[in-house]
Amino acid sequence: MSLNTKLYEGKAKILYPTEDNEVLLTVYKDDATAFNAQKKGQIHGKGAINCTITAALFQMLEQEGIATHYIDCPSPNQMRVKAVKIIPVEVVVRNIAAGSLCRQTGLSEGKLLPKPLVEYYLKDDDLGDPLLTRDRLFLLEIVTSEQLQILEEVALKINHHLQEFFTRCNITLVDFKLEFGIDAQNQILLADEISPDTCRLWDQTETDPEARVMDKDRFRKDLGDVESAYQRVQQRVLSVL
Ligand code: TMP
Repeated sequence: MSLNTKLYEGKAKILYPTEDNEVLLTVYKDDATAFNAQKKGQIHGKGAINCTITAALFQMLEQEGIATHYIDCPSPNQMRVKAVKIIPVEVVVRNIAAGSLCRQTGLSEGKLLPKPLVEYYLKDDDLGDPLLTRDRLFLLEIVTSEQLQILEEVALKINHHLQEFFTRCNITLVDFKLEFGIDAQNQILLADEISPDTCRLWDQTETDPEARVMDKDRFRKDLGDVESAYQRVQQRVLSVL
């Protein structure tokens, strides 16, 4: 497929238009950033791995009745998706305390939460993606209360299916981030990606707190062996399909 003018370039992906204005082409990059792009690097092979993992998970979720923007992958790091208007909110679901939840609340890393926690962060790099309350979401007119109810219900369903799936991979799904978009028919679709960049994934076959990390925390915290961790996630995901 010939790639013409970029529609948008993000930190990890580039979006291109296609001949069909209801379809976009996403090219996944090897570039990695953390801490709002203050830390930059490359994870060799990441683009193809994250595209392959996202495709597998989106197809699994579609089979479970979750509507996604996924169409197909013309090559390992390219995905055709339905054009959507991205809702500017990052929906984070947490099963186990880690990351900013521990930093902001003092909870110990690894604490099992009594029930999954759904949080909303404003997708705005200039503001540092702040945590939003429900009322702030309405104040900013990002979603209606009906749409927020759908986002919460769908996020919890996705969490249920992903937890089941990753358990079969001997991986614990600690937390993850979702993005949603609205299509031409005004339907809310799961969009963006679900990958080791956007999830915390702990290897159930390892007990050491550093050795078990199979996600972007290896890059964020300079734990080393980033590429091999991403490759292992891909192998396990593909092996249980
Ligand atoms: P956090 O603990 O840093 O708030 O991250 C929660 C989850 O969201 C974690 O699985 C990583 C993911 N995430 C992203 O996908 N993009 C981001 O920009 C951030 C900060 C987190």
